[in-house]
Amino acid sequence: MAKVGLFFATDTGNTRKVAKMIKKQFEEGEIQLYNVTKATAEELQQYDSLIFGTPTLGDGELPDTLLEFMPTLESVSFSGKTVALYGLGDQEGYPDEFVDALGILYKKLKKLGATFVGSWPNDGYEFEKSKALVDDAFVGLVIDQDNQADLTGERVEEWLEQVKPLLLKEAVAG
Ligand SMILES: Cc1cc2nc3c(=O)[nH]c(=O)nc-3n(C[C@H](O)[C@H](O)[C@H](O)COP(=O)(O)O)c2cc1C
Repeated sequence: MAKVGLFFATDTGNTRKVAKMIKKQFEEGEIQLYNVTKATAEELQQYDSLIFGTPTLGDGELPDTLLEFMPTLESVSFSGKTVALYGLGDQEGYPDEFVDALGILYKKLKKLGATFVGSWPNDGYEFEKSKALVDDAFVGLVIDQDNQADLTGERVEEWLEQVKPLLLKEAVAG
């Protein structure tokens, strides 16, 4: 079994694309990707280290596929699990709801007992408000494919430098 499970939701494919970029930075067999439309509670439960990725849709909302996945998510205990999050959004189109879904997901998983790694500075983004901020830092990696696609590769790489050892270490120790 892979050490890290990455579960993502996507509407137009950007969040899947970033999931694949993340996968490329791991060794073969270290990480397994799951679209939430097909994932089960058993698949979630088996991992001590998890990554979740989601776009923000509607007006600062979770995508429908992730909403539908919520009962599955809520059936799993996250205590003892290490979780890293990433979120996609559009800072120019939605400056008052920028990556809100990342913040909504963080709150849900926090209630379920998850331990988080991989917060991310908000420098380099221009927006008014975001539910994904805690103490001025984003609760996970923030990607804007609509306006800053050229920065995505380096953002993913930099974030993983910090997050990857923590996810792999937890898996070994766990
Ligand atoms: C209908 C619609 C609503 C959106 N609402 C938001 C929003 O409230 N906040 C935000 O940051 N981005 C918003 N976005 C931008 C998406 O999050 C962004 O395009 C993302 O890359 C889509 O990822 P996906 O291809 O994985 O679905 C919206 C996009 C669409 C099409």
